[in-house]
Amino acid sequence: MDKFVIEGGRKLQGSVRVSGSKNAVLPVLAATLLTDEPVVIPNAPDVSDVRQMLRVLEGLGSKCERSREGVLTVRSARVPHNEAGWDCVRKMRGSVAVLGPVLARTQYARVSLPGGCVIGVRPVDLHVKGMRALGAKVELDGGDIIATATGGLRGAEMYLGGAQGPTVLGTANVMMAATLAKGRTVIHGAACEPEVVDLGECLNKMGARITGLGSPRIEIEGVDRLHGCTHEVIPDRIEAGTLVIAGAMTGSKIRVEGCRPDHLMILLERLREAELPHHFGSDWIETMAFDQRKKRAKPTDVTTLPHPAFPTDLQAQWMALMTTADGMSLVTETIFTDRYMHVAELMRMGANIRRQGASAIVLGPANLKGTQVMASDLRASAALVLAGLVAEGTTEVHRVYHIDRGYARIEQRLAELGASIARIDDDPDAIATDTAPSNETLVPRRPAALPSPVASAAAPGVKSSPLGKPKPARSSATKAKAARR
Ligand code: EPU
Repeated sequence: MDKFVIEGGRKLQGSVRVSGSKNAVLPVLAATLLTDEPVVIPNAPDVSDVRQMLRVLEGLGSKCERSREGVLTVRSARVPHNEAGWDCVRKMRGSVAVLGPVLARTQYARVSLPGGCVIGVRPVDLHVKGMRALGAKVELDGGDIIATATGGLRGAEMYLGGAQGPTVLGTANVMMAATLAKGRTVIHGAACEPEVVDLGECLNKMGARITGLGSPRIEIEGVDRLHGCTHEVIPDRIEAGTLVIAGAMTGSKIRVEGCRPDHLMILLERLREAELPHHFGSDWIETMAFDQRKKRAKPTDVTTLPHPAFPTDLQAQWMALMTTADGMSLVTETIFTDRYMHVAELMRMGANIRRQGASAIVLGPANLKGTQVMASDLRASAALVLAGLVAEGTTEVHRVYHIDRGYARIEQRLAELGASIARIDDDPDAIATDTAPSNETLVPRRPAALPSPVASAAAPGVKSSPLGKPKPARSSATKAKAARR
């Protein structure tokens, strides 16, 4: 298990390129099961969730190859296996997206029910409802979803929204299944997220007939077969948003390139309200440098809602930013109402935050101080890294495998922008595993003062691992080897 050691207080500078979207590529990878022809994805991000999805596909008989340049080619078997067991689904909830394609292709699918996760209960009832509407018989048995569609799926008109609004992967799952159903399917209450639009565009390149993408009413005219294609996924809007917040939070001039500002209009609007200077063009966003001793962000409330409103996947990062704002702000989470694992850790760093139901009241400005914190989920980890960039002293973020699920080599890219951040082999015993907030953890603790993260690993008496060795930046040969894996 690795940790990040961050020395706070550095200004960032320069430009950084955004990777392909993790949440767009996962359903696109599932869609490769709809044809036995190759699907080529030139810009799939090299993150652990993608590697896990490739293992799931290989388990279903697909051949997956990544070239030296990072181009991913996936070719599903002529007759794919149709069982995805607990071992793969438990590691990544997104793998439930194989249900629709496997069912459509083989008329039978057995996929383990994903369990809950730290961001809260994550049901799949809407996925099941959609498959049933398409004529599948669906049973839950021994923790598995077993779907059968003898004679094939039939198009249907359905409402897919749930109590919490639309479902992103549920819409993706049903849309994929419906491409090979007989007749027309209409999904009302469909998710409008850019990742769903991107999947629909990929499916249309494969020969599907889908209209209404980006609206809550998607129509799919079933076809007999789909074929291979080359599809570049959209840039990762959450990675872009995280980097933009890093620039704004550190009062730095950085340019986030190769992104889609039109997918992030709500973030740009909230930054404007927070009086954090930035500008953007068609495929870039630039934050402007300012003196944080003279100027602070204006407290700005956000409420997470389905696209185009504020994304739940940027909630933790926004909260980190608001800890440094000049006054009180309110963050309300309506998608995953328990997605607040970062609160206790930010408080360990000195933030003043109070949970109230599905909201959190953030009282700034906090004088954040570096300490030991624990990553708990992907976006919570990103928030801790952001807090570490501005905290006084050294922050150690443990269990960064969470961040590796969705951000490709984030520490290298932040270091290229001038941040002092290093990845170090962690000692699993160096920090208690129980992160539940207690009165004691509300008091920020200072680690030993360290001159630099690299020195921190080597310094005698430091509470990092005796095994703790800084990992050198990888050479291009090593990177190429990793890309081929
Ligand atoms: N929901 C149901 N029933 C269902 C499915 C969802 O009630 O059958 C509820 C959920 O509990 C939640 C709401 O509907 O309250 C929305 O969940 P959704 O299904 O849209 O989430 P998801 O598709 O499982 C994707 C992303 C998440 C992102 C959410 C919301 C992927 C692989 N995951 O999850 O990404 O937070 O949409 O935008 O695309 C992340 O990247 O960190 C992440 C968690």
